[in-house]
Amino acid sequence: MPIQRTFIMVKPDGVKRGLIGEIIKRFEQKGFTLLNAELMTISREKAEYHYMELQDKPFFGELVEFITSDSVFAMVWEGENIIEVSRSMIGKTSPLEALPGTIRGDFACSKAENVIHGSDSLLSAEREIANFFDPLSIRSLNKDFPFDER
Ligand code: TYD
Ligand code: MG
Repeated sequence: MPIQRTFIMVKPDGVKRGLIGEIIKRFEQKGFTLLNAELMTISREKAEYHYMELQDKPFFGELVEFITSDSVFAMVWEGENIIEVSRSMIGKTSPLEALPGTIRGDFACSKAENVIHGSDSLLSAEREIANFFDPLSIRSLNKDFPFDER
């Protein structure tokens, strides 16, 4: 089972609703390891880069507006198969499909304001982590990890 890193972000709605602790608790309980975390307000440039794959979608403008509207809580987590496992913990994008027991299923009732982001692939995780964190600031438990530039 591969050890992976992923980028998890509590979105402005989740921060405002006081869900940071609940989300950290779920990832800790699952056995994942927190490598870095920061409450930050993100620039339009970083938001557009983060969501670059969606730039042609009709909701892109509103998505960038929303994610830059207030603080987000950005995190790097590490664990076995964390990319796939965290996506299942987060739940589906649509509130009609997000199952109870998932983070979105339990806390989100809007498709646009859905509490949390999680990377969907190794490649996007690498890009998203580098967009928001200095590589040297990330706690290194796995010295052989390929994303590590040291
Ligand atoms: P996407 O990457 O498709 O979903 P996910 O966050 O589950 O990986 O889309 C990114 C975000 O864009 C999504 O979390 C919420 C927003 N979004 C909308 O506002 N409307 C939509 O129809 C979709 C598909 C996404
Ligand atoms: Mg996505």
